[in-house]
Amino acid sequence: MNQTQLSPPPPVAVPASPLLDVAPRRTEAFPIRRATGGDLGKLSEMLDGLSELSLYFRFQTSVGHPPRRSLIEPLLHPNGQSWVAEHDNRLIAHAMWAWAHGAPATPTAELAAIVADPYQGRGLGLRLLTLAAAHATAAGAAQLLLVVSSANDRTLRLIRRRWPTAPAERDGALINFTVPTPI
Ligand SMILES: CC(C)(COP(=O)(O)OP(=O)(O)OC[C@H]1O[C@@H](n2cnc3c(N)ncnc32)[C@H](O)[C@@H]1OP(=O)(O)O)[C@@H](O)C(=O)NCCC(=O)NCCS
Repeated sequence: MNQTQLSPPPPVAVPASPLLDVAPRRTEAFPIRRATGGDLGKLSEMLDGLSELSLYFRFQTSVGHPPRRSLIEPLLHPNGQSWVAEHDNRLIAHAMWAWAHGAPATPTAELAAIVADPYQGRGLGLRLLTLAAAHATAAGAAQLLLVVSSANDRTLRLIRRRWPTAPAERDGALINFTVPTPI
């Protein structure tokens, strides 16, 4: 028996968390719908409440508090499609796809998502990215692109799980994953 097994650990008091009430592990409880221009205020509120790390991983730049309108509007009107998830009349996640810049020879849809911190780890990100991927594929994308910070372990794991064979290319501090369609 090693030192860590000598005696059972003392009971640990777990403080009651309001998040346990508002964020059930069942992700189906959170409806997903298309984003609209009317979501501007709610999306701004959601992003304003996120951790700096989540914001940085999603936007790879400082977004401000509240985030500037010029950052939010393209999230609601991409040249592809965008979605939001809701809980208690608030937005808790956003995902989108948009045609990649520069008219690449292969029609390429870039995917991105952000889930409010208390709601991460419940399957919402996977659900949203899978929806965006299917929609972009149906719209004619021949490949999907996901641009991820090399420090963003959760997203790297998610991509590796969902698209295990996706080629990855390092671009400085970023990793570009390309997923050929159909998926
Ligand atoms: C990346 C991101 C969108 C993923 O969303 P998410 O909702 O947290 O993702 P999921 O819940 O689908 O998966 C995350 C983890 O939860 C786990 N999980 C999912 N559903 C679960 C459940 N019901 N019970 C327990 N664990 C669960 C998954 O297995 C996964 O585990 P891992 O991190 O150990 O690999 C989210 O973390 C985020 O917004 N991050 C900041 C912004 C960002 O990085 N965006 C991506 C740039 S494209």
